[in-house]
Amino acid sequence: METELLTTQDVQRAGALLKAGEVVAFPTETVYGLGADATNDAAVKKVFLAKNRPADNPLIMTVADVEQLTPFVTISEAARQLMTAFWPGSLTIIMPIKPDQVSMLVTGGLQTVAFRLPANETARAVIRAAGVPIVGPSANTSGKPSPTTAQHVWHDMQGRIAAIVDDGPTEVGVESTVIDMSTDTPTILRPGAVTQQQLEAVLQQPVFDATSTTSVASHVTPKAPGMKYRHYAPDKTVVMFDRLDALALRSTLTAQDVVMAQDDTLAILQLPMTQTWSLGETLESATEQLFAGLRFYDETPEVATIYVEKMPPIGIGKAYNNRLAKAAGNQEFTI
Ligand code: TXA
Ligand code: MG
Repeated sequence: METELLTTQDVQRAGALLKAGEVVAFPTETVYGLGADATNDAAVKKVFLAKNRPADNPLIMTVADVEQLTPFVTISEAARQLMTAFWPGSLTIIMPIKPDQVSMLVTGGLQTVAFRLPANETARAVIRAAGVPIVGPSANTSGKPSPTTAQHVWHDMQGRIAAIVDDGPTEVGVESTVIDMSTDTPTILRPGAVTQQQLEAVLQQPVFDATSTTSVASHVTPKAPGMKYRHYAPDKTVVMFDRLDALALRSTLTAQDVVMAQDDTLAILQLPMTQTWSLGETLESATEQLFAGLRFYDETPEVATIYVEKMPPIGIGKAYNNRLAKAAGNQEFTI
């Protein structure tokens, strides 16, 4: 299949392809997504095929406004508060489905479904043009870092999907926060730009963070099905390091190793430019650059090991460290 490259001017074309049951990659403020009509099983199947995604990993449904999701789920008072506070934005909310309203292909057999209303205006315009909620998993091949540019999507999906809508690099750089609102205890299943503190401030009750506990064994049905798979992993070896160990790291590096770090840490390391990827100066810039750097070095043949600086676990730093730990398979540089 010839993959069409579309711009933000081609929203109607993207909508028409989605309506016709085709798969179209679209921008969001977090990462690029892989869209297909969520009410059309044949279209949803194509998404699993394009991503090579395990069938028991449920898909997010992406909508342009809250009215679009009311036929599918029961919205609790608390869930509605979150929508008012954080939508449009980088929060995915899991709610109980109304009986028989969502395809098994989307839910993976669960009695719940995840909804997201992205901040990116092109995303919402494409969904409006399609006229239906679209499934929206990240537009990477399963197991690869999520795409933060249309070029990343092209790399993974070229020839496998109908079109890609290019809206430049994404702002956030990691996937949305996922919160399960289907039980009495609001539970974070994936950390993102919307933090535990922000969620607790709106809900006025404790929010449990399931990602700070140990990982789930692969033989049980986990709470967040996606958590049991090795995610965000490049083919190269990735090792995390602490800024305090920068000098020790410097003395062990070979010419085949590369380092992704913030500017003040890179200043300590004094490496040739070809061996470094700047994560800028803020937590936000580091998060925005993480997947792009991992993907770049993964494609550079001579690179052996990618060392990546950890961030303080505050604000979006938690989401950053969560994705980095997965990419590194928890491997850490120690002196
Ligand atoms: O930022 C994002 O959320 C991006 C952009 C494209 O919108 N999308 C995204 O989708 O990251 P995906 O499918 O790659 O990740 C969704 C995660 C998966 O780990 C999945 O297992 C989990 O959410 N999930 C989806 N539905 C669920 C449900 N009903 N219960 C528990 N976890 C669910
Ligand atoms: Mg994903």
